Amino acid sequence: MIFDRNEKKDVIALLGAGSMGTAIVRRIAAGRKILLGDISAENLEKVSTDFRYSGYDVETMIVNALEKDSIEAFAQKAAALGDVMYFIDTAGASPNQASPEQILNLDMVGTGYAVDAFGKVMARGGAGLLISSQTGYMMPIPFDVESQILAASTEELMDIPFIKETATNSGAAYIIAKRVNQLQALKAAATTWKERRARINSLSPGIIVTPLAYDEFAAAGDNYQAMIDASAAMRTGTIDEIAEAGAFLLGEHAGFINGTDLLIDGGTIASMRSGVYSINVQ
Ligand SMILES: NC(=O)c1ccc[n+]([C@@H]2O[C@H](COP(=O)([O-])OP(=O)(O)OC[C@H]3O[C@@H](n4cnc5c(N)ncnc54)[C@H](O)[C@@H]3O)[C@@H](O)[C@H]2O)c1
Repeated sequence: MIFDRNEKKDVIALLGAGSMGTAIVRRIAAGRKILLGDISAENLEKVSTDFRYSGYDVETMIVNALEKDSIEAFAQKAAALGDVMYFIDTAGASPNQASPEQILNLDMVGTGYAVDAFGKVMARGGAGLLISSQTGYMMPIPFDVESQILAASTEELMDIPFIKETATNSGAAYIIAKRVNQLQALKAAATTWKERRARINSLSPGIIVTPLAYDEFAAAGDNYQAMIDASAAMRTGTIDEIAEAGAFLLGEHAGFINGTDLLIDGGTIASMRSGVYSINVQ
């Protein structure tokens, strides 16, 4: 049985084939080629089987989002499959899963490598999405430090004094890494991705129930409960709500949206920034 006779298909590359990423891909994948990259062979097997049994055309590749060479090989593989119209990066570790250094290397530097690598292969008119976090809004970074971050190459990020001095625990490292993700989208939209006439944005979820969030609930229950209770929504979010917004940002109706971040948190950051609720991030 030949399910699909189309030979030339647009490519969707997903780095980090986890809960949110696969939910976003599912919204946009009909008639396209999906390339999933993840460090876990077991996860790739499970997720690609789910996609295949739902009628999607999917390939997989083991990728370590900590390693520049591995990410570049992933981008090259995507380009070899067809026009790379969509790139989504969700590879990440949360504060209770990793040390400050591991978080900075994966969530910040690894994302930088991915933005750089896909900035060399995106097709004209393509779109990218980095999954950042509401935490990117929790500790405003001084304007001059943000300017340093924007001026730095990916390799130079770890040497920025503010980052070295502030990211002394996993929570602070995560907050900084996710703010840098938002800035990475902004910078790429004006530089490498602009040159390819492709758009790139970030999306900052609040607390979304996934296995990663369950790890956080287990370790930081009270803080998490306080964030939920402080939001106007008074609940956690779902991967389907993230997928809806992600598909919009990647799609043609968002054709004029570029280099920005969309916060989807039920109102937690509104409560924090307006002083209704506060959290100790140090
Ligand atoms: N779940 C939440 O509440 C929440 C909130 C805000 C932001 N986020 C961010 O959203 C992103 C996705 O989170 P999720 O909840 O879907 O988590 P998830 O654990 O379902 O997905 C993360 C994926 O990244 C992969 N990964 C981890 N390390 C990797 C590496 N070195 N190389 C390649 N792949 C690697 C994992 O195998 C996993 O498939 C993360 O960056 C997370 O920080 C999550």
